[in-house]
Amino acid sequence: MNKALSILVVDDSRDMLELIRRQLQELGLNPFISDTVMDGIDILESSQIDLLITDLNMPEVGGEQLIRYASEHFPKLPILVITGYPSIDSAVNVMKMGALEYLIKPFTFDELEYALNSILSDIIKPHKTDDDESLDNFQGIIGASPKMQNLFRSIKRTQSNTATILISGESGTGKELIARAVHYSGDYSSSPFVPVNCGAIPDQLLESELFGHLKGSFTGAISDKTGFFQAANGGTLFLDEISNTSLEVQAKLLRAIQEKEVTMLGSTKSQKVKVRIIAATNVNIQDLIAQGKFREDLFYRLNVISIEVPPLRQRDGDILTLVKFFNKKFSQENSKPKLKFERNVLTALKNYAWPGNVRELENFIQRLVIMHDNTITMEEIPDYMKSRPVEIESTTTLTLKEVEKKYILKVLAANDNNKTKTAKILGIDRKTLREKLK
Ligand SMILES: Nc1ncnc2c1ncn2[C@@H]1O[C@H](COP(=O)(O)OP(=O)(O)OP(=O)(O)O)[C@@H](O)[C@H]1O
Ligand SMILES: [Mg+2]
Repeated sequence: MNKALSILVVDDSRDMLELIRRQLQELGLNPFISDTVMDGIDILESSQIDLLITDLNMPEVGGEQLIRYASEHFPKLPILVITGYPSIDSAVNVMKMGALEYLIKPFTFDELEYALNSILSDIIKPHKTDDDESLDNFQGIIGASPKMQNLFRSIKRTQSNTATILISGESGTGKELIARAVHYSGDYSSSPFVPVNCGAIPDQLLESELFGHLKGSFTGAISDKTGFFQAANGGTLFLDEISNTSLEVQAKLLRAIQEKEVTMLGSTKSQKVKVRIIAATNVNIQDLIAQGKFREDLFYRLNVISIEVPPLRQRDGDILTLVKFFNKKFSQENSKPKLKFERNVLTALKNYAWPGNVRELENFIQRLVIMHDNTITMEEIPDYMKSRPVEIESTTTLTLKEVEKKYILKVLAANDNNKTKTAKILGIDRKTLREKLK
C-alpha cells in the first residue's frame, strides 16, 4: 500500500470542505482542511503536504495569493484549483502561476477523482503488480486487445511532438482519458492540460473563453480576462466536443492554429501562443462537413494525427479485463468484497454490444458492487443484455452474403425488430442497416 498522501483543501465554504474531506478519505487520502488562506499557509508550513486543493474567491485573502505563496515556497507542490463558473478567468490566470488542473464547481466525485488521478497518477492508478492478472494498461487505460495496443502505439508516437490530434469515437469509449494520456505521457507533461467542453459553453461565451477579452469589449466585460489558449500556453488545450462549435468560432480557431497566435476580444494586438491542440468528437465530422456545419479546412488542421477509439464491442478480450478492473476498483471504494460472476454471466457480458461503451460497463459494475454481495447470476443481469442470438446453423453451403443476411434477420427478430438496437449489436449505424435490409 502507498503511504496515504496528505492533501490540503482550502475553501471558505465549510460544506464544501466537509464534502471534499469525505471524498478524499474514500480515496484513501489523508485530508487537511482550512477555511482561510492564512490557516492554510500555517498547515503548509507545518505539515508535509503532497497536494493543495484551493478555492479562488474567498473573503479577505483569496486563493490566488495562496497559489503564489505555494509556488514560491513549495515549487514542487501540485495545485488543483476549484472554482465557480464566474471566476473562470482567474482560474485561467492561476494556471499560469503554477496550478496544474482546475475543476469548476459543482463537480462530481468522479470528476474530482479524475483530476486527482491525473495529478497524482501513481497513487490512485491501478498497479500492475498487485493484481493476480497482469493488466495490460497504458497510463491507466485498460486494453490488451490488438486494437487498443495499436492505439497505445499511436499515443507513444505523439510523445515527442506537438502535432494537432483529433480523437474520434463513440460516446464513452475513453476519448478524454486518451487525451490526458497523450498529455501526461508526453514531453510537456509538467505544463498545463486545459480541458474545454465546447458543448457546454454557450456560443457567445466560447469565443471570449477561448481567446480572452479586454475590459469593455462587450457589455458585461467588466475586466480583462485571459483565455484558455493563453492558459494552456506551453501545454495542451483539449477541445472536447469540437463538433459543437459554431462556424464563427471555427474560423477563429483555424486562424489561431494556423498563425499560432490569438487576439483577445476588443484588442488589436495578437499574442503568440505555443499550444498543442487535442480535439475530440463523438460525431462523424465528415458528415457535418457535408452538411455545411463544419469547416473542412479546420478539420484537416485538427486531423494531423487521427486517433480513432474503437467501440468496446470490437475490443476482443478487453470486456472481461474491464469487468475485473472495475470490480476491484468499486469494491475497494465501497469497502465491499469483490463480486464473483457465474460463467454464463461473463459470457453474456462479453457478447453484449455495450452501446454506451466503457462508461456503460463502468456504471453497470458499480451498480452491481453496491447492490450485491455474492455471486452474480443471470438473474441479476437485465434482459436487454442477454439478447444476443449468435447461433447460425453450421453449414458449408451458404455464401458470406447469405450468412450476413440470415444473421441480420435473426438479430432483428430477437430484438423485436428494433432497428436501433439491432444496429448497435451489429456494430453498424442505422443507415447501413437500412441499406442492408433493402
Ligand atoms: N480503457 C479504459 N480503461 C479504464 N477506464 C476507461 C477506459 N476507457 C474509458 N474508461 C472510463 O470510462 C469513462 C468514460 O471515459 P471518457 O470520459 O474518457 O469517454 P469519452 O469518450 O470522452 O465519452 P463522451 O464521448 O461521452 O464524452 C471514464 O470514467 C473513464 O475513466
Ligand atoms: Mg468526453
